[in-house]
Amino acid sequence: MQSGTATAAPMGVPAQRIGVPREIFPGEKRVATVPEVVEKLIKLGFKVTVETGAGDLANCSDETYRAAGADIAADAAALWQASDIVFKVRGPTTDEVALMHEGQTLISFIWPAQNPDLMQLLAAKKVTVLAIDALPRTLSRAQKMDALTSQAGVAGYRAVIEAANAFGRFFAGQITAAGKVPPAKVFIAGAGVAGLAAIGTAASLGAIVRANDTRAEVADQVVSLGGEFVKVDYEEEGSGGGGYAKVMSEGFQKAQREMYAKQAKEVDIIVTTALIPGKPAPKLITAEMVQSMKPGSVIVDMAAEQGGNCELTEPGQAVVKHGVTIVGYTDLVSRLAKQSSTLYGTNLFRLTEELCKTKDGQVFVNMEDDAIRGLTVTKDGAITWPAPAPKVAAAPPAAAKPATAPAAKKAHGHGEPSAPMPAGKLAIMFAVAAALFWLIGRNAPTAFMSHFTVFVLACFVGYMVVWNVKPALHTPLMSVTNAISSIIAIGALVQISPLMDAADRPNSLITWIAAVAIALTAINMFGGFAVTQRMLAMFRK
Ligand code: NAI
Repeated sequence: MQSGTATAAPMGVPAQRIGVPREIFPGEKRVATVPEVVEKLIKLGFKVTVETGAGDLANCSDETYRAAGADIAADAAALWQASDIVFKVRGPTTDEVALMHEGQTLISFIWPAQNPDLMQLLAAKKVTVLAIDALPRTLSRAQKMDALTSQAGVAGYRAVIEAANAFGRFFAGQITAAGKVPPAKVFIAGAGVAGLAAIGTAASLGAIVRANDTRAEVADQVVSLGGEFVKVDYEEEGSGGGGYAKVMSEGFQKAQREMYAKQAKEVDIIVTTALIPGKPAPKLITAEMVQSMKPGSVIVDMAAEQGGNCELTEPGQAVVKHGVTIVGYTDLVSRLAKQSSTLYGTNLFRLTEELCKTKDGQVFVNMEDDAIRGLTVTKDGAITWPAPAPKVAAAPPAAAKPATAPAAKKAHGHGEPSAPMPAGKLAIMFAVAAALFWLIGRNAPTAFMSHFTVFVLACFVGYMVVWNVKPALHTPLMSVTNAISSIIAIGALVQISPLMDAADRPNSLITWIAAVAIALTAINMFGGFAVTQRMLAMFRK
């Protein structure tokens, strides 16, 4: 592995080999890369080896990997032996660690807080390990590598599909010759990554969707995905900082139970996703609530692995109790193995791009880079977890972070705000601006001053409008401002070119140049409006 600076490898340094073993955890169907991603890794200069059969359960055969340019290793021992870097989904077992060699780099889920023994084993092997679960999620540039988000999104989608499978009716309401079918009512408990994906999926299937979360800040996201946010009738902020919840007071929990009991009687399907990292899942659906649901109703408890949000959940099973099907599958992501492997493989490819900026098939673990530092849990045998907080964070650090929470916290799509300006600096800026205005006012012609005042006011109003737009709508806003700038460009063209030559005759060259310029800006203008329309449509139901 390269060390020191991120300069291109000297001529003759052989490309590093990325190895992808077959996942051996029982029931795990995912694979850490797919053939489409193999091609991209090879373009980055790496060689790729995949263990035979690694992608079979995710519909990626050895032949498709071979066609993409990968070599196929006959067994795990050969694969680990040949690889400089290993991509995995699940953390390695003791047997897999035994196959590792000094200097090797491993990228996979590790959960260092929950697996101290594994961390010791990896350190003893003098390897470098990047735990994809330790990514600092507050960094907006880290979002493309955020496998927790990509996998939870798949799980949320699949939870609704499992619910639809167990439910005996349509999701969408219909009026047929045989009678009127009411739409299914779906209640989602917890609107984090998986919950929001479940809301979007259930709404797109035509159900009436309601959701609740202790963090009031997610209400807008619920609505933008087509759901209705149901509030608990109790004033308490549930945000524990960084996009995670906190344990709520007894009073809140009582009011929440009352609201959930009411919803249980009304809805047909409940999907629970409530979780506070490092804590057992909150028990939100009691046995009595299950009993009060209509026969044929369905509960999908996504938190089954952490003890379940429903009292009657049996982890890993689908059971029928009081006429209600309770699905407690813990392998929802694996049930959509091709999709989750493709997204996971893409997350790892984006990470590899960050590790190999020189595109020469050599990774460089740059400990000065906030994202890479956060991910690196052992470096050449030294345990480097937990990482210090990233220098730029979207939210102030939580006062008391759960011991087993992922090292990073998430931004839920927000960027990094800059620190507020000190008052003294602000006062100096105002004084300088006032002096400039006075100077301009004294010396400039009257006509200029009226235009200038309009310009300054327009800047101020524009700033206030843009500042108040939600981050989720920033991209459509950018495209609409593009379109507006194009109109301004056309206006400016008309103003600048007199379209006459020196002898006051029409100048056809200038006319033609102006026409071409207008045609080109028109593409930007109409394109901007079209893109805005399409993007806004994504937020409409
Ligand atoms: P997340 O942290 O993004 O979302 C959890 C949400 O629950 C947060 O928005 C939080 O504010 C909310 N919450 C916490 N306590 C609450 C309470 N008392 N009442 C209402 N809301 C509350 O987590 P993510 O990634 O969305 O995962 C959700 C769950 O799904 C986790 O339990 C995770 O382990 C599980 N999961 C299960 C899979 C499976 O195969 N069964 C696969 C992937 C995730």
